[in-house]
Parts: sequence; C-alpha cells; structure tokens
Amino acid sequence: MYFVWRGDLHIKIREWHEIYGEAVRTGPDTVSYNSATANEQINAVRARTVKSDGYRSMSTSRTTPNTISAIDKKTHSFKRRIQSQVLSEAGLKTVEGRVLGHVQEFVDYLGPDADAPMSEKTRDAEGWGPSRNMSEACNFMTYNVISDLCYGESLDLFKACDLRWFPGAVALISRRVVMGMLHPKFNAWKLDRLVFLTKRSRMLHLAAWVRERGSARAARGNDVEQRDIFYSMMNTADPKTGGHLTSKDLWLEAMMVLIAGSDTTSTAMAGTLHHLLHSPQALAEVSDEVRSRFETAEDVTPARVAGCKFVRACIDEAMRLTPPVVHGPPRRVEAGGVEVKGEYFGEGTILQAPIYSLHRNEEYFEAPDEYRPWRWMVEGDDFDRASRAFVPFHVGPYSCVGWRLAVMELTTALARIVFSYDMRLSPGAHCCGGKPSAGSCPYQVKGWMTSIAEGPVAQFKARSS
Ligand code: HEM
Repeated sequence: MYFVWRGDLHIKIREWHEIYGEAVRTGPDTVSYNSATANEQINAVRARTVKSDGYRSMSTSRTTPNTISAIDKKTHSFKRRIQSQVLSEAGLKTVEGRVLGHVQEFVDYLGPDADAPMSEKTRDAEGWGPSRNMSEACNFMTYNVISDLCYGESLDLFKACDLRWFPGAVALISRRVVMGMLHPKFNAWKLDRLVFLTKRSRMLHLAAWVRERGSARAARGNDVEQRDIFYSMMNTADPKTGGHLTSKDLWLEAMMVLIAGSDTTSTAMAGTLHHLLHSPQALAEVSDEVRSRFETAEDVTPARVAGCKFVRACIDEAMRLTPPVVHGPPRRVEAGGVEVKGEYFGEGTILQAPIYSLHRNEEYFEAPDEYRPWRWMVEGDDFDRASRAFVPFHVGPYSCVGWRLAVMELTTALARIVFSYDMRLSPGAHCCGGKPSAGSCPYQVKGWMTSIAEGPVAQFKARSS
C-alpha cells in the first residue's frame, strides 16, 4: 500500500519479478505473473476467473455498479453489451465531427501564436511559440472530448480556467480507487476517509459537479441537436435481453466513461510526445510519413490516418513504455480453480499479470527500456512475440471497450500536430534540461488507477518545408 500511495508499485513489481522470477506472491492471496501466456490464461473468456472484490471501490453507488465495477458476470455482460455498441466503429461515427473539433482546438493551442490577439505575435525570433506543459494540454483535450461526449457540453479547458481543477480531482479519485482495488479492506475499514481526509472536499466537489451535469443532460433527454454518447447509451438496447440502462445507470456510466476515457488517453498522448521529443529520428520519420500523405491538417481524418503505420507505431511504442494502466487488473479465481502455466490455483486466489512488467519483459522485447517504434513495423517472429505481450487495453471479456475512441483521438491528434508543426523540448525543460539524448530520459508517471503524467514541456513552430 505504501508503494501504491507513492504511485510506483508498478516499478517495484517489475523489480520483484527480476529478483524472484516469473511468478511472485505479492500479497497473502495474490500471485503476479510476468508472462504473456499466464495473462491469456487468467483472462480467457472461459477462464474461471472474475474481477476481484476490490473493483467495488470503482463505483460511486453502493448498490448500482457500472461497467467497470460490475463483478457479477451477468450484470457486467448486460452493461458491456450496451457499451460495446455505443463505442463501436458505427457508434463513434456519429460523434466523429465533435471529436475532431476538439482535436483541432488542441492543435491550435500548441501553435506559436495561440495566445496572441490578432495583431500581436508570441513567437520568438526563431518562430518558436510559448512553452506548453504537454501533460496539461493533453488533459485539456481529452477532458474536453469526453465531457462533451458524455454530457453534451465541453469543459472548455483551453479557454476557461474555472474548471481546470478537474483533472487534479480525478487524479485523487484514481489514487483512492487503486488503493481500494488492490487492498479491499482499505475502503471496508474506511481507511480511505482517513488517508484522504484533507483531499475529500475536492473529490466531493467533483462528484457533485458530475451529478449535476448528469441530471442536466438527462433532463434534455433526446432533445439534442448533435448526438453524444449519453444519447447513444439512452437509446441502445441490449441485443440479448432487449433491456435498457436505467436513469441511475446512465449517470453512473457517464461518470465512469468520463474517468476511464480521460487520463488514459491523455497519458498516451503526452507520453508519445515525450518520447518523440527525445528521439529525433522517430520524429523526423513520423513527420515525413504524415506530410507526404496529406495536403491540409483537415485532411487528417480517422479513416485516412489509419493508413499511417508509423503514426500508430509511435503511439503503441509509447504505450508500451508508459502504459496508461500500469497494473495487472486483479482477477479472483472462482469455484473449480484455474491452471496457469501448469500450476493449479484454488478458489479465492487473486491472479494478475502486471501490464508495466509485461511491456518491459526482455523475453518479448529486445532492449525493453528503449523507445523503438520500428519494432512495430516488421513482420515475423519478433513482431508476433512482442504483440502477445503488448496489452495496453488489456485482453479478455473485461478489456477496454473504449479503445477505438482513444485510437481515434491519438492518431488524428499526433498526425495533425506533426503535419502543422516542428517541435522541440523547451530549453531547460525539467525532464532533462532540454538536452535530450536517446533513452536518457524515461517518462515519469504516477501509476494509480490510471497513470498520471507530468510534462514534457515543449515548444512548437510552423513546420519547415
Ligand atoms: C489510451 C487510452 C486507454 C487505455 C490504455 C485504456 C486501458 C484500459 C484497461 C487496461 C482496461 C481494463 C481495466 C481493468 O480491468 O481493470 C480498460 C477498461 C475500460 N476502459 Fe479503457 N483505456 C483507454 C481509454 C478508454 C476510453 C477512451 C474509454 C471510454 C470512452 C474507456 C473505457 C473503458 C471501460 C468502460 C472499461 C471497462 C471495461 C469492462 O470492464 O468491460 N477506456 N481500459
């Protein structure tokens, strides 16, 4: 719990695997496996495993779980079948225009003249614009997208300052939730109230805001000009039972999506920019790929950017080194037990395969600590081996249901940025003093329920030809 509180349990667990081997007992009933095969066995659709009891800490309501916190398989499947349609390719097509509008606002914010009134330029003599903290800017984009999709109203964080406390409050919730998830007694014994005593008012403020927005959106019902996720959730039936989400479900699901879809995507975006800013070769290649394919930034659409393999490789490699969810989602063994790599585990055991350790396991990745997007551009055994251990969205029946939205945001944003700008670390940037050399500067995050990142601080200027 001490390491979870600090946000570096994922680094400790990797160390423990290096010292003690592939399987490590990390708690009285808990075994961690640093193995792709074990991950597949623990999370197989038919495996006798279920989300651990700790997932209860992810629900705002004691009586009504959301898709993530639902432990009962029947309840989870019902909600999941609805979310799978809402966040399917066809479902997202209806909100694509809204997403791209927020992506473009993010790209414009990075530009050299973004802060200036029409008559005044903010760029320096060489054309570089103001320094931007990328974790903050990426948060602004992902929170604007997800609040707009959930509640039909963007937080508008690029322009307005009054809601900029929001990402910080979500980070507190992420920290509290992971402590409850990894040690269920943490919440049961009300230790969370003690540990987060001084931070409680900020969390309650956020909960009140979300409840108020949820009610306001629910009151508008289907009377909206443009469809949002709330509209889809309200109007989508479960194909198996014909059932719909209740009004309580709706605001709980909207709140869950708001949290699940913001920090995750933002860490992936900021992490990608961090690594590109430290890898001139990768940055040059990704810029070439995009600039040779598109005539204008608006041409970069989700459908067309899907053909940019190196854009995706740069993002995937960043999510490998800095997974937005670092922990191994804990699964409880059900009656009958399961076999993992030839070992039998009885009912009640908690099994997990930590994503951060898997992603840096040299059995699957050569030079596992280096940023090498090229590893995703080849075919053959190396690629296949790496792909099995690369699980940022996790695998199995509880894997990420929102991955398509994340990929849409990430690929279009990265491609539009490198289409429009050259970029560099700000001189004196606090990660490595603005003097990057390959592999010298790992991206630091707090590994809570989602990863909370800091920096990099960067500058942008209109692209050179
Ligand atoms: C780069 C971005 C993202 C990453 C890396 C990511 C990763 C993950 C992971 C690892 C899980 C499994 C967690 C667990 O079982 O404990 C998960 C679950 C989930 N994610 Fe994401 N996520 C991302 C973005 C999103 C977005 C944009 C949304 C919504 C719009 C979303 C919605 C969900 C939901 C609803 C679940 C629960 C699924 C279930 O239990 O059936 N995620 N995500």
